Amino acid sequence: MTVDVTPTSVSGINIKSSQNRLLIKNGRVVNDDGIEDLDVYIEDGIIKQVGRNLIIPGGTRTIDATGKLVMPGGIDPHTHFELEMMGAKCADDFYKGTRAAVAGGTTCVIDFVLPQKGQSLLEAYNNWREKADGKVCCDYGLHVGVTWWSPAVKKEMQQLVSEQYGVNSFKMFMAYKDAWMLDDYDLYCAMETCAELKALPQVHAENGHIIARNTEKLLAKGVTGPEGHQLSRDEEVEAEAVNRACVIANQAGAPLYIVHMMSKSAVRALQLARSRQRHALIGETLAATVGTDGSHYGNACFRHAAAHVLSPPLRPDPSTPQAMCEALADDHLQLIGSDNCTFHEKDKQLGKDNFAKIPNGVNGVEDRMAILWQKAVNTGIMDPCRFVAVTSSNAAKIFNIWPQKGRIAVNSDADIVVWDPKLERTISAANHKQAVDFNIS
Ligand code: URP
Ligand code: ZN
Ligand code: ZN
Repeated sequence: MTVDVTPTSVSGINIKSSQNRLLIKNGRVVNDDGIEDLDVYIEDGIIKQVGRNLIIPGGTRTIDATGKLVMPGGIDPHTHFELEMMGAKCADDFYKGTRAAVAGGTTCVIDFVLPQKGQSLLEAYNNWREKADGKVCCDYGLHVGVTWWSPAVKKEMQQLVSEQYGVNSFKMFMAYKDAWMLDDYDLYCAMETCAELKALPQVHAENGHIIARNTEKLLAKGVTGPEGHQLSRDEEVEAEAVNRACVIANQAGAPLYIVHMMSKSAVRALQLARSRQRHALIGETLAATVGTDGSHYGNACFRHAAAHVLSPPLRPDPSTPQAMCEALADDHLQLIGSDNCTFHEKDKQLGKDNFAKIPNGVNGVEDRMAILWQKAVNTGIMDPCRFVAVTSSNAAKIFNIWPQKGRIAVNSDADIVVWDPKLERTISAANHKQAVDFNIS
């Protein structure tokens, strides 16, 4: 993974003025392992002191954090900015997307390089760097998709994990047949290669063949609207793939990270697999499924229903959002991402007559932290330490940037969010920072 560290120099001149010194005073520091009333002193983007009665240089800018929580900035392990998929391009580019992330308390995102089938992984990686480097407003890293398999792909994976590129995670798709999907043989080879390279394999766990057949059957019956999306890929279709991915990872001797887990059945399958697995199994869920449910697919307004289309889909079972909060609190799931992959209404219209053509994806990079706070901390399901763990520290540990990120401590990056636990605000497309013209929250 690549991490761009906050610059400390401009035009080669090292800035050492009071502008680069900041004291956050009187706040309550929350880490994943404890809470303490402490001041935090920062110089040049790095935390230099944490404690009380600190000796600070004159002229330092001070933020009074009385009544506020001082937490590690969020790390969103799953975004798609400027991605082109299903005939459309994401509304949020790396500038607007990361600007929205920062507005919501996220200071680092990890996006996905997704090569076309047959495309060089290195070429795709370089394209992503070109798109992102000049635009990002926060630190970022990159996972790389393995969307086809050959000895050349294996070689490029070896190159990508070198110091030069620093990639340490690869995503494979069990869905999106005829696009990014790998069959089980290729998935096994990719996971074996991850194990050899000590990289982390990630999977999108849904059975692409079942989805394809169900889609044909639904369309033949005249089900063309967004409700067909969830009907073509119910919980079982996700849970089967979770189980299969775990078996393949176990055979390959690899750990496994399952992205965007959206159902109670999928979490149960993961828990079952854990009891027999030789290596770590990590589960990520999304702000979307914590914040809302699949009832929206029945909305008579196409714009509304299509805006909620993502894969795996939101589930009709109304107890899903609370169950996902509980799974995060109980360590059945380890992280929450956004899978931010936004499409304007005009792009969602591509699937007006066929739900399978609605570009997949929803917003969330801006609201991920607030949604989880509201649904899990304000309800008493999760304490603030666990909130920090699942929104930041666990991602830092899993993707090898701990304790540079994900922690308030001396020598860590000053990626900090000053969080007002009493602040109330209404989330809407009219006031969000994201580019997209709909907000599902
Ligand atoms: O619907 C989704 N999740 N869109 C983004 C691509 C992916 O599968 O992560
Ligand atoms: Zn996916
Ligand atoms: Zn995604």
